[in-house]
Amino acid sequence: MKEIDIGQATALTSPDPLVLVCTEKEDGSLNMAPVSFFMYASFDPPMLAFGMGKAANSGENIRRTGKAVLAAPGVSIKNAVMAYGSANGGKTDKLKETPIALQRIEGSSIQVPEDSRVAFVVSLAQTVEAGDHYLYLCNIDKMVADDTKEALLAWDGYAKVAPAQEK
Ligand SMILES: Cc1cc2nc3c(=O)[nH]c(=O)nc-3n(C[C@H](O)[C@H](O)[C@H](O)COP(=O)(O)O)c2cc1C
Repeated sequence: MKEIDIGQATALTSPDPLVLVCTEKEDGSLNMAPVSFFMYASFDPPMLAFGMGKAANSGENIRRTGKAVLAAPGVSIKNAVMAYGSANGGKTDKLKETPIALQRIEGSSIQVPEDSRVAFVVSLAQTVEAGDHYLYLCNIDKMVADDTKEALLAWDGYAKVAPAQEK
């Protein structure tokens, strides 16, 4: 085996999980950002963790409100997912610039894409500093799913989003 850097490692472990972190901005509007640093963290109680760069608006929002909804985006919103991954929600109204169909989950004020395979309504339990990122450890308050929808995964070190198998 040869020694590699972390960029090469992320490309070699792909496809990686992909969720859209949906949060509420300070003005009450919706923000979304794709995240691949995602994992389940506990079965009982159900918990998950995700990591975001320190400057991300999504992180600011979850630290302020304690709330987020993480949705596994469906294949029809591939281009929007890439667009949401290249702008900071504090500077841009991403949902206005690249609108998508949304749906409400009962019990949460944060909307998610209509084309979602799974959505996790979460509350922030702990924020851990992790180098240039923050790791957000969350309690999962509710999970909903539509298994007829095909989810996107992250490929090639986050350069591309595509289903697990190209048809
Ligand atoms: C496929 C894909 C995966 C990504 N995964 C992560 C991630 O795990 N953590 C992260 O901080 N940013 C990740 N990003 C980049 C963020 O989505 C990007 O920095 C975004 O602009 C943050 O938006 P915000 O400032 O509105 O929160 C990813 C982008 C793409 C396209």
